[in-house]
Formats: sequence, structure tokens, C-alpha cells
Amino acid sequence: MSSEPTPEHRSDTVLTVNGKPHTLRLDHRRVLLDVLREDLGLTGTKKGCDHGQCGACTVLVDGRRVNGCLLLAVSLDGCDVITVEGLTDGGDGLHPLQQAFLDRDAFQCGYCTPGQICSAVGVLAEAGAGHPSHVTDPAAPSGRPVPLDEAEIRERLSGNLCRCGAYPHIVEAVRDVI
Ligand code: FES
Ligand code: FES
Repeated sequence: MSSEPTPEHRSDTVLTVNGKPHTLRLDHRRVLLDVLREDLGLTGTKKGCDHGQCGACTVLVDGRRVNGCLLLAVSLDGCDVITVEGLTDGGDGLHPLQQAFLDRDAFQCGYCTPGQICSAVGVLAEAGAGHPSHVTDPAAPSGRPVPLDEAEIRERLSGNLCRCGAYPHIVEAVRDVI
């Protein structure tokens, strides 16, 4: 049986990626990660495991971090996607987290770095909005920003694996921008 999609297995999908709208006719089986890399040429987002285990494909959808390898792109019709290329809003400089990763030497091979940085952007927003993590004190007042100490940062970034073991410097980089 052919795996070529028939017309009824494709849909027009509008994705705003890094502020730019794109209308794409997509096979329903394709995931966001592949559409970003193959259709839009945004290869900053990396494919590690391709099944939700490593976090290398992390991007932001409507401000929340997601694994791009797990999301069917057609399900995101109308959404705003930010990749590592779009963190600075088109500006020339680096996002403070990108600068902190450089300053702290928070990568070795760098393959996990785009996902780590996008995930950390999501962490700052989640903690700022008062979302608790597994290690947040249950007695802490709900809805208040959660202070990001080392345990919080390690727990919240635990879905992003670094095969080189740059974790101590990654934690320092995130702490620099709190
Ligand atoms: S490539 Fe998506 S989680 Fe590993
Ligand atoms: S810097 Fe190599 S996998 Fe993270």
C-alpha cells in the first residue's frame, strides 16, 4: 500500500512561525518538528530521539514549551510558534538566555542547546505565572511566582537531556537571567 497522502489526507494549515504567517498544505501525519526543519528551513530545532524522550525539538507554541516531534502540525492551525531562531523577535542581538549560555559555556556539542534554551524560556514564564513543579513546596501560596532555585531549574529542565553532561553550566546560565 502506498504511503502517499491522498488529497483528503492533507489540509491547509496556517502557522505563524517567528512572527511570519505561513499557509501550508500538510499531510495529516507530519509533525511540527519536520515541518519546521524541512518545509520552513528552520534547522535550529533539532531532532534527537524523535519520540518525546530528549527535548532537543523543544519550541514554544502560544508561549508554552512543547516537543515538536510529538505534535501533528495540522493540529496547530492558527497557532504562534517560536523557535530558537525567533527568540529575539527579529532583532540582531541574542536573547538573554542565549547570551548566558555563551557566557557560561553551557554546551559542548551544542546539539541539545536550542531545545534547552527554548525550554528555559518556557520555564521562566511558567514559574513567573506561578505554575508549581514536582519539587515546589506544596505549602507555597498558589498563583504566586515560584522562585527558581537550583532544584527547581533542574526539575523543570529534566525533560531536556544533554548527552555531553553540560548540566552544571546550563543551570548557572538559567540562574543568570532570573
Ligand atoms: S526529538 Fe523530540 S523529544 Fe527527542
Ligand atoms: S551540549 Fe551536547 S548534547 Fe548537550
